[in-house]
Amino acid sequence: MKTSLLIFMCLFSVPFLKAQNKMKDEHSTVKVLVLFNTVNGGTYKMAQEIAAGIEDFPGAKAILKQVPRIKPLENEMKQPFASVPYANISELTAYDAIAFGSAVHFGNMSADMRYFLDQSVNIWTSRKLEGIPATVFMSAGSGAGREAAILSFWNTLAIHGMMIVPTGIMGTSEIDKSIPQGNTAFGASSLAGIPNSIRPSKGELHVARLQGYALAKAAKGHQLTNSLTGQTSGLTRQVSPITDKDQKINITETKLKELNISLPKAPAPVGNYKPYRVSGKLVFINQIALNNGKVDHPGLIEKEVTEEQARLATRQTLLNVLAVLKEAAGGNLDNVKQAVQLTGYFYTPAGYTKHAVLMNEASNLLVQLMGEKGMHTRATVGASSLPMNSSVEIQAIFELE
Ligand SMILES: Cc1cc2nc3c(=O)[nH]c(=O)nc-3n(C[C@H](O)[C@H](O)[C@H](O)COP(=O)(O)O)c2cc1C
Repeated sequence: MKTSLLIFMCLFSVPFLKAQNKMKDEHSTVKVLVLFNTVNGGTYKMAQEIAAGIEDFPGAKAILKQVPRIKPLENEMKQPFASVPYANISELTAYDAIAFGSAVHFGNMSADMRYFLDQSVNIWTSRKLEGIPATVFMSAGSGAGREAAILSFWNTLAIHGMMIVPTGIMGTSEIDKSIPQGNTAFGASSLAGIPNSIRPSKGELHVARLQGYALAKAAKGHQLTNSLTGQTSGLTRQVSPITDKDQKINITETKLKELNISLPKAPAPVGNYKPYRVSGKLVFINQIALNNGKVDHPGLIEKEVTEEQARLATRQTLLNVLAVLKEAAGGNLDNVKQAVQLTGYFYTPAGYTKHAVLMNEASNLLVQLMGEKGMHTRATVGASSLPMNSSVEIQAIFELE
């Protein structure tokens, strides 16, 4: 009884099951689709050799299929490839790897192949082919543009996130270089249009076969890696959504830096009131020319304070307004939708008329900083006195986002 319990525990313990799964993966078949389009059969011959190369790899199985035709082929039933079934687009996700092949048509893949691949949008957006090894082979006439034709597949495969298996220079040292050969570094091809020669040549078939083997090997590697990571598809690990919120450029802060302005600390209220009040989306602010607890350039304009000093006081007052506004906007001036209205009060003698010139200091700075958002309506008023003997006071209304 005890012995049988022990055997049962050993059999079903986690490490044992994991080891069993690993062994299963090591010996499980890799299913590789060889998907082609042909008119004269040249690509079919290459496809058969690719398939043979796939099956050279232990445990790999090749499945040959054609892409459906846009226009039926005359005498198709008499062609050697007539018995090869047509694929449907949704089955692309059912394989461990795919070899794509077509005739070279004007330096491109064939229209049938293009039309077929264009139906894979849903597969693409659900990332079902991501990480799946893929390779491309072709049949050409003279060979003109055959590399570009292979690369025309690569664009699509890359967009799917497939792992493209190229041929590099594999097999080239073994092939007969005294005749033109179709091999490329991107994939095998055949030069079916070379007169007086049997095509595909032995050399072209040799490279195609090695290419099939290489694809099956990559498929096996992918299968084993998936089993190690416990993934069924995709190349990436599980990640949570990334937001660029923290990295968003703060336009107003950037502009402040450009203008070499650092905002003062928002002055604390000196009475029973708030530095700002938000009502709906509007913010109401009033400030004088306080700077570190003291008023900048206090006194009557033109008598105790020059116009230049009054302008500096106006600038300081607007900076105080902005410092308070930043607090009201949750610490980010980019949250301000627009300036609405500025009212400037100036401590001026009777008959003074140049309030607007002084207030321009504030208006210009605001527009420089916020651009169109900083445009506002404006009023300027002369006052016979202002709090703390300040030469200027600004009331401001802004709208928040
Ligand atoms: C519309 C069309 C365009 C072609 N363009 C090229 C080409 O750009 N370069 C080339 O080498 N062969 C070109 N060919 C020749 C075919 O690639 C060649 O005949 C090929 O072997 C056909 O493959 P298949 O036997 O699988 O149908 C073209 C053939 C057709 C019908």
